[in-house]
Amino acid sequence: MTLDATTEIQREAKSRLQARTARVGIIGMGYVGLPLALLFSEQGFPVSGFDVDQRKVEVLNGGGSYICRIPETEIQAAQKQGFTATSEYARIADMDAVIICVPTPLNEQREPDLSYIIGSAEAIALHLRPGQLIVLESTTYPGTTEEVMLPILEQLNPLGLKAARKGSPDAKAFYVAFSPEREDPGNNTVARREIPKVIGGLDPVASELASLLYGSIFNRTVPVSTPAAAEMTKLLENIYRCVNIALVNEMKLLSLRMGIDIWEVINAAGTKPFGFQKFYPGPGLGGHCIPVDPYYLSWKAKQFDFQTRFIELAGDVNTNMPYHVVASTAAALNRHKKSLNGSEILILGVAYKPDVDDLRESPALTIIELLQKEGAKVSYHDPYFPHIGKGRRYDLRMDRASLADIARYDCVLIVTNHSDYDYPSIVRDAQLIVDSRYATHDIDSDKIVRC
Ligand SMILES: NC(=O)c1ccc[n+]([C@@H]2O[C@H](COP(=O)([O-])OP(=O)(O)OC[C@H]3O[C@@H](n4cnc5c(N)ncnc54)[C@H](O)[C@@H]3O)[C@@H](O)[C@H]2O)c1
Repeated sequence: MTLDATTEIQREAKSRLQARTARVGIIGMGYVGLPLALLFSEQGFPVSGFDVDQRKVEVLNGGGSYICRIPETEIQAAQKQGFTATSEYARIADMDAVIICVPTPLNEQREPDLSYIIGSAEAIALHLRPGQLIVLESTTYPGTTEEVMLPILEQLNPLGLKAARKGSPDAKAFYVAFSPEREDPGNNTVARREIPKVIGGLDPVASELASLLYGSIFNRTVPVSTPAAAEMTKLLENIYRCVNIALVNEMKLLSLRMGIDIWEVINAAGTKPFGFQKFYPGPGLGGHCIPVDPYYLSWKAKQFDFQTRFIELAGDVNTNMPYHVVASTAAALNRHKKSLNGSEILILGVAYKPDVDDLRESPALTIIELLQKEGAKVSYHDPYFPHIGKGRRYDLRMDRASLADIARYDCVLIVTNHSDYDYPSIVRDAQLIVDSRYATHDIDSDKIVRC
């Protein structure tokens, strides 16, 4: 293949992206991948969703949805635009752009588990063809795209293709970029289109192709010089959250001792028009991102003989919060001459944050386990979860309790402040409320203990 042929491949790739005829393959039909697939579909792109979970593939191809906030009608509208789901990686060969949105959890030793990225890169490599754009979106440490994904794509593809690199146009090139996902589930204040998309291409053409691709669904793209810079950008954002949440959690513990209402303080400080951003304390970190991502960086930092002390300190404060909630519940019961051991406790809200159907890393799970260890009889209610089953770290197997007989519980413990709850009537009916989320802030009652 000559240099002219390369230029021709690039030209074709660009014109397909501009005309929205480029076929987009998204790997991982989860909380990130599925909404992204729908966005591309809305803009007229033919989209294929790849997932190893056959059940998800079947639900999607049947026009159904397994994510609460995505109605079936959106899946069906996408199907009319040509959206299909598949577990057959051979179809990668038909794609012009492939976006990887697979999980990046921690393993048992709390180290990065890149097995999903490695698995999908290995499967993609077998079907790579010149001119394809491969973008990694999964949150990970700086270096993953170039040090982990790229070698797999180059070494395992049967055609011997190489990725385009700065200043070395290759006649058989494919294109590689990293572009972090910035979704904030449950946040309806910012339209998805309005969230700028950071892009770090391995090569200027890769950046240009990725900008054309994402420019069709986002109002603004933000190019950075390398994939590693884009990877680090995402980690900075999440570590910033994690550290600031730890700061307000620590301020809350002190304020409780001093008899100061920390939420009142935060809201007052938030009126400052510059130099301060509001973060709120809570029962502990949850979700797939904030409790996990910082450890990707601290792990990588060790290779550079560097200790990320802010990350460790924030982790220390934040992981202590469920213990604080349990101790506060014990103290509140004690004031009613009751012990944790034998008390009936209703946990209100188990999702990791309000108004989402996501239980991953939720502090509620730790709190339930800690309470059970102390001999409490724990029930839960959450509008999004009729059952809690077996997770990676927990095996609770509980069914949702009814809210009808709330008065029978010795204590109602608010862990997640879903907006559907009628807090005044909960306070009216319950014997004792421990509120870890400020959900009852506008209710004045001796029954409420804020912690
Ligand atoms: N959920 C969020 O709000 C959020 C926000 C920003 C970034 N992220 C990051 O995005 C990435 C994906 O997160 P998520 O919440 O969508 O995860 P998820 O668990 O909801 O979805 C991942 C999907 O990938 C599939 N999968 C796993 N291995 C696969 C493979 N080899 N081939 C095809 N499919 C495969 C799984 O079956 C699952 O459906 C993670 O790195 C996460 O840190 C998530």
